[in-house]
This record gives sequence, structure tokens and C-alpha cells, in this order.
Amino acid sequence: MTANQPTSRPTEFIVTREHRRFAEFCDACRQARYIGLCYGLPGVGKTMSAREYTHWDELEALLGPAPHRRSGLPPRDSGPWQTVLFTPEVVNTPRSVARDVDNLWGRVFGLAAGSSWYADRAVNPEPRPPTLVIVDEADRLKTASLEQLRDLYDRRHIGLVLIGMPGLQKRLARYAQLSSRVGFVHQFQPLSGRELQNVIESRWVQLGLDSAVQESATADVVNAIARATGGNFRLVQRLFVEIERVLTVNGLPSVTTEVVAFARESLVIGTP
Ligand SMILES: Nc1ncnc2c1ncn2[C@@H]1O[C@H](COP(=O)(O)OP(=O)(O)O)[C@@H](O)[C@H]1O
Ligand SMILES: [Mg+2]
Repeated sequence: MTANQPTSRPTEFIVTREHRRFAEFCDACRQARYIGLCYGLPGVGKTMSAREYTHWDELEALLGPAPHRRSGLPPRDSGPWQTVLFTPEVVNTPRSVARDVDNLWGRVFGLAAGSSWYADRAVNPEPRPPTLVIVDEADRLKTASLEQLRDLYDRRHIGLVLIGMPGLQKRLARYAQLSSRVGFVHQFQPLSGRELQNVIESRWVQLGLDSAVQESATADVVNAIARATGGNFRLVQRLFVEIERVLTVNGLPSVTTEVVAFARESLVIGTP
């Protein structure tokens, strides 16, 4: 058995039930041109889902680092891009929010225009502007910045999704201008049941720990990991890093419930 060194391997995205629900929620906000609120505990997978839904990794690569400059034409089958993912700076002002969203908007629209360059003009004569703006970490926005987004929403005739922590919906309820326009609210839940088990199993296969989990111990170990993490994706991730470390440091051949308990201890200590 090789317990690989804890590394920051890129995480393979797992399409979960929560992700599918999130995607349906975004589609609904886009179609109805509503404001939608998505809230959930830190670490449940909101940001990963938003990036997946918007193909943001791919888009960032195409957009390139410099504003107003593309790093190349998008591939033929990539467009049209119709969603903007915006993460406000920790310290933001209405002006910086307006500027940053406008900038992203223009660049994403520019890509759509670029991809229609290839398109059969009879079928797709005009590039279409983005129809949905998703704002991650919306808890960072104060009233004036929210007001700025509300103004953008009204002027552009788009859907708007605000992602934040539990409590966001209560805070926004105080701003009538915004809350009166909220059409959908979505709670992003932790993993549970069979799906949590699948994620745990896929993690140890990914980490090469599968041979370290004996058949007979599987259910107990899965249960121990499920209990220790409460289905929180980030905690699952962190617990596995600890499990690998515990195995390596102690030269242990297999993952047992004791190893999980030990790893969990260090996780609790390490939790801010
Ligand atoms: N669908 C997913 N597939 C694989 N890993 C995921 C998924 N969702 C979340 N994760 C893992 O959990 C971590 C936390 O997810 P993140 O989206 O940052 O949570 P949140 O935005 O809700 O705080 C990610 O860094 C990743 O390791
Ligand atoms: Mg996040």
C-alpha cells in the first residue's frame, strides 16, 4: 500500500444531487429573469458548483489575465457563453463592483461574439449577451453594493444569483428593493446517505487508499468518516489529507476506524 503524500491534487468535480439542484435553480433564475438566493454552510460545495455550472475554469483560460484582451478564439463548440461569475473583493465599493461586473460582462460577451465568428451565420446571426450573473461570496457586499447589483439587474434584464452563507436571506430581507425581486431561494445542503458514501469511496480510490481499506471494515470506516465530516465536502477533503498523514507517519498499512478517529482529532484542532 502506498499512502501518497498529502498534496494539493486538483479535485475532480463530482456531479452531486446538490449540484444538479443548483444548476436547475440557476436555469430557473435565468429563464424567469429573477433574483435567486443560494445559501449554505462553508465547505458544502457552492463555489465549486458555480464554477462548474459556468465552465469558469475554461472561460478564465480563454479570457486570459489582462482585461479587455482575449488569449485566443474560443473553440468552435464552446459558445455562446451566457453566464458571468463574479466574486467581489473582500473590501469592495459600489464603484468597484460595477466596474468589475461590467468588465467581466464585456469579456464574456466578447467571447460569445468570438465564437459566433465561426458559427453558421444563418443559424446564429447575432452573439447573445450574458443572461445570468452569479455573485459568489455575496456576504461581502454591503447595502450600497447590493443596490448597485440591483440596478444592473433592472437595466440589463438578466437573472441574478447571489451565493452566500446562511443568514444572507435574512440580511437581504431588510432591503425591500432587492428582496421584492427575489424569485427563488435555494439552500445548498451537505452530502448525505448513499451519495456521501460514494464520495468517500471515490476519494480513497483517487488517493490510492482503496487497497488500504479492508472489505470487512468498509462500512464502519465509511460511517466513521461520514460522522466526522457531517457530509461537508471540505471536511471530507481535509480529513483524507489527515488520514494519509496518519498512515504515513505511523507506517500503518490500513485505514481503520481508529485511524479515522485519530485523523479527526487533528482536524478538530486544526479547525479555525
Ligand atoms: N462537486 C464537488 N466535487 C468534488 N469536490 C468538491 C465538490 N464540491 C466541493 N468539493 C470540495 O470541497 C471543497 C469546498 O468546496 P467549496 O465549493 O469551496 O465550498 P463553499 O463554496 O460552499 O464554501 C472544495 O475545495 C473541494 O475540495
Ligand atoms: Mg465558496
